[in-house]
Parts: sequence; structure tokens; C-alpha cells
Amino acid sequence: MAQDALGNSISAASDAALSGINDFVSGFLGYEKQAANVLAAADADPDCTLANIYAGFSWMFLEAAGAEDQASLYLARAQASAAGANRREAMMLAQLERWIAGDIPGVQAVGEQIVDEFPTDLASAKLHQYFSFNRGDAASMLRIARKVLPANPDNPYVHGMLAFGYEQMHEIDKAELAARKALSLKEKEPWAQHALAHVMLSQGRVREGAGFMGEASKTWVDLNSFMYTHNWWHKALFHISLGDNQAVFDAYDRHVWGQEKDYSQDQVGAVSLLARMEIAGMDVGNRWEDVADHMRSRARDTIQPFLTIQYLYGLARAERAEADTLMAAVEEKALSSTAFDRLVWHDVVLPGCRGVLAHARGQYQEAVRYLSIANPRIAEIGGSHAQRDLFGQILLDAHLKAGNWDIARQLLEMRRTWDPDGVPLNRALAMVYQKLGKPEEAAQAAARHYD
Ligand SMILES: [Fe+2]
Repeated sequence: MAQDALGNSISAASDAALSGINDFVSGFLGYEKQAANVLAAADADPDCTLANIYAGFSWMFLEAAGAEDQASLYLARAQASAAGANRREAMMLAQLERWIAGDIPGVQAVGEQIVDEFPTDLASAKLHQYFSFNRGDAASMLRIARKVLPANPDNPYVHGMLAFGYEQMHEIDKAELAARKALSLKEKEPWAQHALAHVMLSQGRVREGAGFMGEASKTWVDLNSFMYTHNWWHKALFHISLGDNQAVFDAYDRHVWGQEKDYSQDQVGAVSLLARMEIAGMDVGNRWEDVADHMRSRARDTIQPFLTIQYLYGLARAERAEADTLMAAVEEKALSSTAFDRLVWHDVVLPGCRGVLAHARGQYQEAVRYLSIANPRIAEIGGSHAQRDLFGQILLDAHLKAGNWDIARQLLEMRRTWDPDGVPLNRALAMVYQKLGKPEEAAQAAARHYD
């Protein structure tokens, strides 16, 4: 019986389909472009159940309207050949059915079972983490990684998955150990590099983080656009803190924006970086325009909360009418959805969207009002701490622009616990202390920078 590269049994596959399956598994785990090879492999071997399931997954990863239609074509093929599928494949087929139907808790329940029964199926463990990440469920991310560790103690991707799970659970020392273990097994493990960037960001190791990601960037070849742009995004965050604006613009113009401009993750990465650049006092010129041009099709996109709220901000910063259309779509979904995530849309996304829209339009007291409702529960929209910090920054910026000096001072001093000498942070703090009539503290803040 055929097996994939990790030793998991496959019911039937031509040599070409097996190659496509292995490309998917290794490409998915390593964030490499070769994962997409499974699409052609599935087309060439329509009777191969697993290749067609993975092709269906690939379409769903697009996180876009219409993806279900394309994925359904591969689902139909996989169903047609399912009589010969083994147990693992049958469960993955059920996952694809539920994913297309929007039943994410159902997908996760089956995924848990797959990982329990087939702990060397690391693509299934990775898929489980993907959904947990999108729901802000850090405990689940860590739990699934720990579950597959005993069966794969020397697999670098398992340690990368563990590292990010620990980081999101604030177990920073364990996160660093796991990331370093992954990198000792495979120097080019972009998810472990990424986890280490999170560790350094959370501990104020800003200069070290910029240097580490600079070295790591030499290995960022053949990565998919999410991993490539996201690791450059992380590198740019360190440069923002350092006050090295030229390096930030370089990261944005040459790496973060321009890979796959129609892809969800590239778009929110660009929105998120441009917003932070503006909050840090940089003039981003007409850069919102190109991002908004590529987000026109997002005007009714309420597929994932974390994406929608950032599409909205980008469309609004470019003063596009689509921002109003999207806000209306969010209101409708928040008030009428009966899906598993209805409370997130109602309680968090709706005020969050109203808040970022108000900020984008210069209505700062409105932004304060709504983001103060959304932000305490913002983890529920998914994404990482570092990504969701955007909403903390927008709220802080709204307080600053609304002249709420006492609150802004508190927020800025709290942010110094993980970015003590950040240049834009301390520039804002100096301004606040001036407004509060404390010139000595203002001078101290203005002088701070990373050595
Ligand atoms: Fe990240």
C-alpha cells in the first residue's frame, strides 16, 4: 500500500498523484509554494481520493468568495472514489464536506479524531492549528501540537507548531526552546523563525529581533506568499520600534506588498503594516490606493472576522465607497447570523468595525467608544497577539488624537513593558507628558531609543 512521505497510508494513487500529495503535505507544513502542485496532480488523477481532498482544501485556504464552488468540484470527485478510501481519507473527506458547509466546529471535531488515531498525519495537526488560530483558540493550538510530539520527536515542523502554541499561551521560555529545537533540526523552518520573532517582540528584544529576522530572511525562498510577507511584516515591526523608517518602507514596498495582491493574507498584512506606519507618524503617501484597488471584491466579504475588520479599515483609509457596503454587510451578519460564530460577529466584530471605521474617518471619540467595547474580547476574532495589537494601537491613537492625555499616558507606559525604548512610542509619550505639564518626563521619553 502506498504511503506519503510521513508514512501515512494512502488507499490508491498514481506516481504523479503521490508526488502531488507529498508536495501538499511538505509544502503545507513548510509554507512552500509546492503545496499547490496537488491541484494539477488531482486534475491528472481524478480517481485519487486524497489528492482531490487536498485540492479541495487548497481552494478553501484561499479564504475568498467562490472558493467553495471550486472546492466542491474536487469534493465531488473525492466522493465518487470514496468507496476505496481508507479510514483516514474518509475522515478527511468528511472534513472537506463540513468545511465547505461552513461547519468549522465539525471540521475540528473530525480533525481531533484523525490526530488521535494517526498522530503522524502532521498535515491534519497543522490544519487543526489553522482553524484554532482563526478562532483565537491558543490553548487548542498548543494541545494539538503536544499531542503529536511523542510520535514525531525529531520532526522540525512539530517543534515549530509547539513553539507558536506556547508563544500564544504566553509560555515564552518554552516557546523559545521549542523554536530553537526546530531550527536545530532544520535551519529553514519559517514557522519556527516566525515563532522566535513573536518571542522577541513580546520581550522587547527589538534590535536582536531585527537582526535575527534579517539573517533568517536569507532562507525565505520558495515560501508561499503568506509566510514570505508575514515574516517580512514581523521584521518591519522591529524596524518601526527602532525608528528606522527607511527599513520599514523597504520591507513594505519590496516584500510585504506585491507578492499575491489578491490574496486575503497579503491584503491584511499590507493594511496592518500601513496602519502601524501611519500611527508611528510615517507618511505612507498613496499606498492605500493600490491595496484598496485589490480589495474591491471584499465589499461583502464576511468570511472571517479577522480579515473583514482589516479589509474595512483599508477600504476606509482609501475613502472607498466599498467601506460602507462592507460595514452594512457586517451589521447584517451580526444581527442575523445563526452560525457557530454569531456571538463573535455581534459582540466583537460589529463594535470593532464601527471603531476602526470611525478612526479611519477621523471620528476619534467614536473610535474610542466602540473599540473600548470590542478590544477586551478582540482575541475571539482570531489571529495572533502581535496581529491583534493593531486594534490596541488604533484605540491608543484615537485617545491621543482625541486629547485624552491621562488615558493615553497609561496606555503608553503599559506598552513600554514590551517595547521600552520604542521610538514612536516614546515620541508619543513625550508629547503626552508635555500636554500634562511634565517637561522632565517628556525629555526622558524623547531621549529613549534602542542602542
Ligand atoms: Fe505572526
